[in-house]
Amino acid sequence: MSGDDLRARLDEARTEGLAIVGAVTDMASLEDARIRVLGRKASLSQVRSGLRDVPEEARKDLGRRANEVTAEINRALAAKEETFRSEEIERRWKREALDVTLPGDAPPVGTVHPLTKTIWEIVDVFVGLGYRVAEGPEIELSSYIFDALNMPASHPSRSPQDTFFIRGRGDEVLLRSETSPVQIRTMEAQDPPVYIVCPGRVYRRDTQDATHLSGFTQIEGLAVDEGVTMSDLKGSLEHFARAIFGRTLEIRLRPHFFPFTEPSAELDVQCFKCKGEGCRLCKQSGWIEVLGCGMVDPHLLEWVGYDPERYTGFAFGMGVERICALAHGVSDIRMLWENDIRFLDQFKGSP
Ligand code: DAH
Repeated sequence: MSGDDLRARLDEARTEGLAIVGAVTDMASLEDARIRVLGRKASLSQVRSGLRDVPEEARKDLGRRANEVTAEINRALAAKEETFRSEEIERRWKREALDVTLPGDAPPVGTVHPLTKTIWEIVDVFVGLGYRVAEGPEIELSSYIFDALNMPASHPSRSPQDTFFIRGRGDEVLLRSETSPVQIRTMEAQDPPVYIVCPGRVYRRDTQDATHLSGFTQIEGLAVDEGVTMSDLKGSLEHFARAIFGRTLEIRLRPHFFPFTEPSAELDVQCFKCKGEGCRLCKQSGWIEVLGCGMVDPHLLEWVGYDPERYTGFAFGMGVERICALAHGVSDIRMLWENDIRFLDQFKGSP
């Protein structure tokens, strides 16, 4: 082939190459185009092999020209690549754009559960009187739940039907049915005086209804010191009842029985809704039952090695769900455990 022919073909190869590169519309086909215009079978490469047969004088000039064309095509390819890259970045910016001036989605803010609030309120009243908080295990030994609390082996509350025993441990280990064993554990661990309140979960084989749960929360109290009398019990519980239910309400102690106190009583508070007139809440009695209490039976003091001739004490125990429901007008204590946000939301911000 003559030098002129080759020059003409080089120009064609250039035009064709630039046209192919110019027609590429995305990054994926760019590599194909590169092979088509610069690969072994490309017109440009054929022109280059043709250089071998061109007379010496023309070859140098044509060779330089071929190099220029190759460089030009390479620049066109690089420019395309650059365009696609910046377009892709542009698209990503659009896709991932974040308008920091838009108002955000506020995460829902929770509130302290009404039961927790009630525990805090009750505990605060007693901490204000100098009590400290004590806790004990929810899985307890029957000796702490029954024997130490004056319920010997023949006592009906030890019946397997009454209580949740732990399988494989006979009647030795069970879910505690009341917080009273914390009294024993605390007295065993320290000398008098003892002033404690013990909040905690308890478990009973109870059928659930508006006023019963098989797992609920109690707060137990114990005061043991020299010269503690029934009037201390009454004064302390009056202070508590008025702090929770209303400053001017009357209280009364109604005789009752508990194995671990003698004498025992139930504390009633004047109905805070009708002020004692009689209404549906107090079942027309004018009084609302709040907790159980009594003077610590000397047997308990002996059990833990305290001298019952020197020390006396009183104790009390209450169901927190009941107090919470009374204080907030909740008609069914199961709602306190259902975690229905619509119910719980109503306690937002309340003390
Ligand atoms: N343990 C009792 C119950 O679960 C409540 C109670 C009553 C606790 C009198 C006491 C008490 O400490 O003295 O029903």
